[in-house]
Amino acid sequence: MNAGEIDRLRGAALEEAADAGDASALEQVRVRYLGRKGRLPEIMKGLKALPAEERAAAGRAANAFKRDVSAAIDERRTALTAGGSVRRETADLTLPGAWRELGRRHPVSMIMEEAIQVFGTLGFTVADGPDVETAYHNFEALNTPAHHPSLDEQDTFWLETGELLRTQTSPVQIRVMENRQPPVRIITPGRCYRRDTTDATHSANFHQIEGLAVDRRLSLADLKGVLAYFARKTMGPRTAVRFRPHFFPFTEPSVECDFSCHICGGSGCRVCKQSGWIEIAGAGVVDPRVFEKVGYDPELYSGYAFGMGVERIAMVKYGIPDIRMLYENDIRFLEQFG
Ligand code: PHE
Repeated sequence: MNAGEIDRLRGAALEEAADAGDASALEQVRVRYLGRKGRLPEIMKGLKALPAEERAAAGRAANAFKRDVSAAIDERRTALTAGGSVRRETADLTLPGAWRELGRRHPVSMIMEEAIQVFGTLGFTVADGPDVETAYHNFEALNTPAHHPSLDEQDTFWLETGELLRTQTSPVQIRVMENRQPPVRIITPGRCYRRDTTDATHSANFHQIEGLAVDRRLSLADLKGVLAYFARKTMGPRTAVRFRPHFFPFTEPSVECDFSCHICGGSGCRVCKQSGWIEIAGAGVVDPRVFEKVGYDPELYSGYAFGMGVERIAMVKYGIPDIRMLYENDIRFLEQFG
C-alpha cells in the first residue's frame, strides 16, 4: 500500500471507530485495524515491498494511521463509558420512591404534651426554669429546713458552686411567683435529678410535671377536681382518684394522689401490685410560709400545687415494666409509640 491508500484506509478506520455503537463493536474495529492479524501489520509488512522513493512517505502515512486510529478508538471508548454512566445515573421515574422512616415521639414527650394540652383547657400555661438551681429555690424558699434529708449529699447532686441539679420541678413555682402577681395557673414539665441508684422504677434523671394555681379562695377541693379531670382525660373516663394524707414542707395539708388502676379497673392486678391504685402525684395546699417568701399575702391568696412523675404515668399508661427502657434508645421499643 502506498501513502495514498494508507490514508484512505485511515479515513475509513476513523469513521468506523466514531460510529461504533457499543464497546464490543468498538473492539471489533480495533481488532480489524490494529490487531495482530489486522490491517496495520499488513501495512507495515507491505512497506518493504514498496519502491525506495515511495517508502518514506508510506512510512509516515503508516505512523499517522497507527497514531490516529488508536487515538480515535480511545476517544470513542471514553465517550461510550461516560455515556454508560450517564445512563446509569438517569432517574427512572417509574420506580417507587425511596421510603425513609419518620422518627416518633418518645413516650415521655407524649405524656408531657398530653398534660400540656389537658391542663391547657383548664387555663394553665407552661412555665420553665433552670435545671441547675440554687439551694434557695430548690429547698429554702420551699420551706425545706437545712436538716431535711433531701439536702443530704446522698440524695442530691451538688455542684462545686453551691448550686445543685434540681431534685424536683417545685423551684419553678418560686421563680414564677417571684416574677408575677396572682392569679397564677402554670404547669412545668421538666427534668429532675436525684442520687438514686438506677433500678426498674428509679432513675437518677427523670421528669416531673409541676402544677401551681394561686388565686383568692382556692382550696383542696379545687386541687381534687383538677387532678380528677386530668386522670379521666389521660387514663380513661372511668378512672377514680384517691387522696391520702402525706407530708411536704411546702404544702399544708399535703396529700398523695392515686389513680385507680386502668388495667384492672381497681380490682387488683400486677401493674397496681394488687392494690387497685397507682400512686401518681404529690400535692397539697400551698403553705403560707412559701407565700411569705415570694411576697404574696397569705391572708389574701391561697393556692394548690402538685407534682407528678412523667415516667411513672408513661409506665402505667403504656404498660412499660422497667423505667430503663425509656432511656435505652432501643428503636424496637420506641417505634411502638408516637
Ligand atoms: N415536689 C414534690 C416531689 O418531688 C411533689 C410535690 C409537688 C408535692 C407540689 C406537693 C406539691 O416529691
